[in-house]
Amino acid sequence: MRHLIDIKDLSKAELDDLLALGMDIKANPQNYRESARFKKLATLFFEPSTRTRLSFEAAMLDLGGNVIGFSESSSSSVTKGESVRDTIRTVGCYTDIIAMRHPLEGAPLMAADTSPVPVINAGDGGHCHPTQTLTDLLTILDEKGQVDGLTIGMCGDLKYGRTVHSLINALEYYKNVRIALISPESLALPEYIKQTSLKGTHWEEYPNIEAAMDKVDVLYMTRIQRERFSDPSQYAALEGGFILTPELMKKAKGDAIVLHPLPRVDEISTAVDEDSRAAYFRQMKNGKFVRMALLMTLLSGKLMEKSDMPEQSGAYICENKRCITNAQRDAEHVFIKSGDGVFRCKYCEQKPGIEV
Ligand code: NCD
Repeated sequence: MRHLIDIKDLSKAELDDLLALGMDIKANPQNYRESARFKKLATLFFEPSTRTRLSFEAAMLDLGGNVIGFSESSSSSVTKGESVRDTIRTVGCYTDIIAMRHPLEGAPLMAADTSPVPVINAGDGGHCHPTQTLTDLLTILDEKGQVDGLTIGMCGDLKYGRTVHSLINALEYYKNVRIALISPESLALPEYIKQTSLKGTHWEEYPNIEAAMDKVDVLYMTRIQRERFSDPSQYAALEGGFILTPELMKKAKGDAIVLHPLPRVDEISTAVDEDSRAAYFRQMKNGKFVRMALLMTLLSGKLMEKSDMPEQSGAYICENKRCITNAQRDAEHVFIKSGDGVFRCKYCEQKPGIEV
């Protein structure tokens, strides 16, 4: 059974094939109208969403399939105390594929443990968001022709921004990419990502947008993730910083593009929307095509099984308060040796003994 929980669940060749299929669907949607006929997608959204859920649903409908699901966990048996694993066992009996969003890190992976059908991570807390990365990559390819060799600026909430985490992870697959990290110090990229995904990549940190503006080919703006702050006063102190304005756009390269996974709050002034380099609404449209490609690929069962990484159970406890293992009665703590040789929680990737 293949799932998409982390963007690196795909090999580079699989990622290339998926993006090429997404491009073809975008150019010739009429050729794919029957591709998922009689198949059902379940969208299980335990956290709010507009674009991700609706683009998944539109994708399945445009492939000739059907959709069931919920957009609020309050309407499911979760409120009665049902575990994520049991919910998924149930949904897997009625559907062929599941897209799941959850506020806790690692929840879709835990769901995949017992799912009889493919599970797609549609965002897990501040951790990962692989299908947004597919959307981002398709947009970069479409707008710039290639990802190799580009300088990509990432601005805003790099600490809790799951779209940034997955995109950085995927960029490791491309050649000569340079990354400019632009954030307030308190929202800097987590150390575990610097030590793993960024290990072989050239990256620099910048204190504000202006300092990086003339260097970037792609500026990836993000929203401050208010819902992930445990102390609301911390959020209040940051709101309003790191805003992209038409004045700053004057300093950008003529062929640079601005992306944003959306929703935007006030980090991009609406006056920037008129600039032809503002590609975020085009990016949003691409989300449906690339999700069509993903649904087709996972439903076809064509992807190769991944080999298992060495695991350790019982030796460590995950202390991440936002990790699914600390919220489910039936969860065990499992650690996996990651690329840098360190054991990390299988579900949220934090090291043992680190309280976050
Ligand atoms: C993002 C998300 O949910 O992580 N939105 C999206 O999926 N398009 C970004 C965000 O919420 O800020």
